[in-house]
Amino acid sequence: MASERGSVELVNVTKMFGDMVAVDSMNLSIEPGEFLSLLGPSGCGKTTTLRMLAGFEQPDAGHIRVNGQEVQNVPSYKREVNTVFQHYALFPHMTVAENVAYGLKQSGTPKSEIATRVAEALDMVQMSKLAERRPRQMSGGQQQRVAVARALVNRPSVLLLDEPLGALDRKLREEMQIELKLLQSRLGITFVFVTHDQEEAMSMSDRIAIMLDGHIEQLGDPETVYEHPSSAFVAGFIGRNNFWQGTATDNGAVADDGTVFVATRPEEHVPTGQDALAAVRPESIHLSHEQPQQGSNIVRARVSGISHFGDVLQYVVTVGERDLLVLSPRSLALRPALGDEVWCSWAPEEVYLFSARQADVVMAEAHLD
Ligand SMILES: Nc1ncnc2c1ncn2[C@@H]1O[C@H](COP(=O)(O)OP(=O)(O)O)[C@@H](O)[C@H]1O
Ligand SMILES: [Mg+2]
Repeated sequence: MASERGSVELVNVTKMFGDMVAVDSMNLSIEPGEFLSLLGPSGCGKTTTLRMLAGFEQPDAGHIRVNGQEVQNVPSYKREVNTVFQHYALFPHMTVAENVAYGLKQSGTPKSEIATRVAEALDMVQMSKLAERRPRQMSGGQQQRVAVARALVNRPSVLLLDEPLGALDRKLREEMQIELKLLQSRLGITFVFVTHDQEEAMSMSDRIAIMLDGHIEQLGDPETVYEHPSSAFVAGFIGRNNFWQGTATDNGAVADDGTVFVATRPEEHVPTGQDALAAVRPESIHLSHEQPQQGSNIVRARVSGISHFGDVLQYVVTVGERDLLVLSPRSLALRPALGDEVWCSWAPEEVYLFSARQADVVMAEAHLD
């Protein structure tokens, strides 16, 4: 049961803004000490969910439990949760130490205790040496560390983070991802981490809740959501996929352009004759100069783009009217040149097959660009 410190539970939680359903009867159970990410496109309800956990928004229906206790009617400042926002909102005229101490001072914590706890929080984020600096004398990453310290100084059992690295440039962001993850495992505090960046969610999380239109589309660990996406939307949002629209057959699908897909692991059962989406990941497509002598899913293509990404090469190959993305390890001997004719093949067990809900078709197409 979720009576332990650090557990979070949402039961049928709904939030409306006027007629608009921002969070739609959401259920989610987070374990103590877990690093859980809410991942999804802009507007899917991530921030609203987090704000309800923090107590900044009231749900219209449902129950929220933190540490096993109902908190709907508990004011924000009495919940054992703290929030780190994208824009760190530090007080510019205060030093780092004063910024971190601010909340404790407001709540009348004794001076000696404030000093101990501020020192402890700054130590956690390795900012003790900069305690007397002011925000404008620090980098974005350092300021965000102070914002994290300011949240940790309250010793929350759950830390809520809303796109905390969104304002940082890529390199710093990647460093901070590692740092935050280490901090979280060291402290054992539950992290509920909001991001729209799937790579960030994949690299940091124990589990990811992939959200769409106010509900959780899939909940699972990074490997599971990558290997076994439960819908075409997830398949397009986590990692990348090449999608074809078509019609389900007994052993796969026929795409609208005539490409036949043999699939041995349909993620959903799609009845024969119904609209289907077939998907193949770029790294599952193999290129060759010679026509493969056996197997299914073999098409002729022309290389129309090559990009270098360090250890992998990304090809855009054109099959008939459409472009496919193909990723090959640099170590592979075959290096077709621009304009070359090649064969593309992929194994039936690499084909995902989904029923085509309208939303999925739209999302899938958006991801092809
Ligand atoms: N205070 C508000 N008033 C009206 N609509 C809101 C408000 N906050 C959020 N929304 C709407 O609710 C939906 C979910 O928003 P949000 O939770 O901020 O999404 P996300 O964080 O995933 O981008 C969006 O359509 C957004 O426009
Ligand atoms: Mg948001």
